[in-house]
Amino acid sequence: MTFKYSKKVIEHFLHPKHWGKIKNPDSIGDTLNLRCGDIMKIYIKVGKKKKKEYIEKISFETLGCGAAIATSDMICDLAKGKTIKEAKKISFKDIAGELGSLPVQKIHCARLAETALKMAIKEYERKKKK
Ligand code: FES
Repeated sequence: MTFKYSKKVIEHFLHPKHWGKIKNPDSIGDTLNLRCGDIMKIYIKVGKKKKKEYIEKISFETLGCGAAIATSDMICDLAKGKTIKEAKKISFKDIAGELGSLPVQKIHCARLAETALKMAIKEYERKKKK
């Protein structure tokens, strides 16, 4: 079976801009898809601008398929500079849309990226309450 990928998916897969760890991240969202075994980690650093918290730095480490890498990189593009409130609203549909569509069999890769970011934010908020 072969999948047809958009140019953007291929570009983000071959040349991800946000790959790697952030030094002293405020939080990490760590997730795994049990069916395919792909693992995704999203690192975030939160800044403050006009009393609003925003995603100052974001990066990822993904052990998975090409679509998993492309969706990880895209969610970093979409979340960077957004307030926490805005970043929470980023969905797998936004990721797939920005990538110029994804094969239906690869939509779960975008869901994994959405989950990883949400987990990173949730963990950040949990730590803040302490
Ligand atoms: S095949 Fe499962 S995340 Fe890509």
